[in-house]
Amino acid sequence: MPDPGHFDADPSGYEAGRPPYPDALWARLRALGVLRPGLRALDLGAGTGQATGPLLTAGLSVTAVEPGRRLARRLAERFPAVDLRVARTEDVELSPSGYDIAVAATSIHWMDLDVVLPRVREALAADGRFLVWRTEFGDPTASLTPFRERVGEIVGRRAPVVDVRRRGGTAELAQALTAGGLFAVEEIDVTRWSLDLDEAQVRALFATFSDWNEAEVAAAGDAVRDLGGTVREHYVTPLIVLRGT
Ligand SMILES: C[S@@+](CC[C@H](N)C(=O)[O-])C[C@H]1O[C@@H](n2cnc3c(N)ncnc32)[C@H](O)[C@@H]1O
Repeated sequence: MPDPGHFDADPSGYEAGRPPYPDALWARLRALGVLRPGLRALDLGAGTGQATGPLLTAGLSVTAVEPGRRLARRLAERFPAVDLRVARTEDVELSPSGYDIAVAATSIHWMDLDVVLPRVREALAADGRFLVWRTEFGDPTASLTPFRERVGEIVGRRAPVVDVRRRGGTAELAQALTAGGLFAVEEIDVTRWSLDLDEAQVRALFATFSDWNEAEVAAAGDAVRDLGGTVREHYVTPLIVLRGT
């Protein structure tokens, strides 16, 4: 069973391996009016700052919550302006009504929603928004590429495991986020995007996946080499915009 500490073992690998979120996501957030200079953002599970950086660049002040000590150290090196809390969202101290937006970027599935949702609701201003997004590495609606066939073969060799983390689709996640009646969905926006990756980039990215082992990562890299050295990948980034009820 993977654990969230996986990311903390190699912060520079995480930073180098994960591609930035797509421009279309940031454009949607800008259109929603949540990237305005001066707004106060809470970045939950900030990692090495894939969301923190663009939030700061847009002129927001950012409080970042990150329990991984090594990740947090790297985040502070990269973004000294951030107000950093080395803690889990479940435990961190937050000022009531202290934030205009809360962000969980590819991190909500590591958190206990029963504990976290009331805390986020209390930390948000009355008209605040909770923005939950993640990148799904592999778009099930895109046509199957030779590389994705090879990925399917690698994953298909695994013994079946029971993973107790929330791994449902976006609709299921939206339901879980609203089930307690504290938040309502304002909109769900889905960005589909593509990226060309070479062998080294595939090795670096797949090594950041908490459910991939070293041999599997090596096999994915070998597949890229066999397929000519570069593969086009298709990804999906669903964004769930929530408002307090
Ligand atoms: C996949 S990474 C995402 C990092 C970053 N937000 C990004 O978009 O790349 C998940 C992050 O959630 C953090 N995390 C795990 N459990 C957490 C919790 N209970 N509260 C806050 N962060 C948590 C991990 O340490 C890790 O940095």
